[in-house]
Amino acid sequence: MRPLEAHIDLDALRHNYQLACRCAPQSRSVAVIKADAYGHGAVECARALEADVPAFAVACIEEAIQLREGGIQKPIILLEGIFNADELSLVDLHGFWISIHSEWQVAALLAFSPRQPIPVWLKVDSGMHRLGFSPEDAPAVWQRLVSAPQVTALHLMSHFATADAREGSYFNQQMARLKSLAKRLDAPLCLANSPATLAWPAAHGDWNRPGIMLYGSDPLEVANETTQQLRPVMSLRSEIIALRELEVGEPVGYGGRWRAKRRSRIAVVAAGYGDGYDRHAVDGTPVLVNGKRCQIAGKVSMDMLTVDVTDLPDAAIGSEVVLWGGSSDGSVLPIDEVARYCDTISYTLLTGVLPRVPRRYHGALA
Ligand SMILES: Cc1ncc(COP(=O)(O)O)c(C=O)c1O
Repeated sequence: MRPLEAHIDLDALRHNYQLACRCAPQSRSVAVIKADAYGHGAVECARALEADVPAFAVACIEEAIQLREGGIQKPIILLEGIFNADELSLVDLHGFWISIHSEWQVAALLAFSPRQPIPVWLKVDSGMHRLGFSPEDAPAVWQRLVSAPQVTALHLMSHFATADAREGSYFNQQMARLKSLAKRLDAPLCLANSPATLAWPAAHGDWNRPGIMLYGSDPLEVANETTQQLRPVMSLRSEIIALRELEVGEPVGYGGRWRAKRRSRIAVVAAGYGDGYDRHAVDGTPVLVNGKRCQIAGKVSMDMLTVDVTDLPDAAIGSEVVLWGGSSDGSVLPIDEVARYCDTISYTLLTGVLPRVPRRYHGALA
């Protein structure tokens, strides 16, 4: 069997969720498990968290139904709400909660007769300029919804554009708009994503929406004491499948991007962009071989990548290679570090791990 596997530590997931709750003890935290729990397996992650969380958040009704079919009974909020009016009968049937960001969604809901009122989070565009009503338009929409028989548990929801940055001026502008709106409407709030949960207590509302931190990635520009307690959930591990010796000047891989500056030993590892490993990884991107740091040498191929193991004499066929996460000897390669070498973020690496990589679940609730 091909040795590449994504090991998912469900105990680490629960630890990170508890950390999010401890950051914001006055808030209830929904666990954001959209995009297949950021590539970790939504049903498995939801099962591991269900006893602890008050609700889950997903992007769309397909993801919510997958959770119900997997036996998940806790409330599930659709962060982008419905995509067409027909979905409301499924929302009602499964007891989903919805966000509302557009006038057509308001009209559809007010024309619908649910069996029971639907919990609604009204999305306000406080500065992200993606989804939501402007702070000027939101009060009129709020008034229509708050008294509607179709609606219960109405909340204001918004999303931050810069909560990960150390510099807080734009975050503070968004907060100021939200605070004045919430005061005017006497509205409960759901604002904080992971970075706001970790770094901006002012944003902690009745509800928070941590996502990436649950998977052990640090979303902050500058790590803090709390982010250092995050534990990686996914460890992407493979093995060396071949080794070769190269003379000075010899190239490796497509285009010969990397060339040996000394006599070198190159390990071929079973992992490539056909598995979701980022092809933008530059020479020097770290991996762990037998728990020791080594560097990628040459362009990532579809099914393989190549690593300079010249300084690691014990590297052999079958040696463990960690692309990110923890190795079996306990050393850790943070995914955020790998992401920087790929000029991307942990979110794309995690959600990019393709279905051909088997997920192996570990932990008390696996
Ligand atoms: C509306 C909304 N809330 C919360 C989150 C979770 O954000 P994060 O993963 O940065 O915690 C996301 C993620 O994209 C989102 O779109």
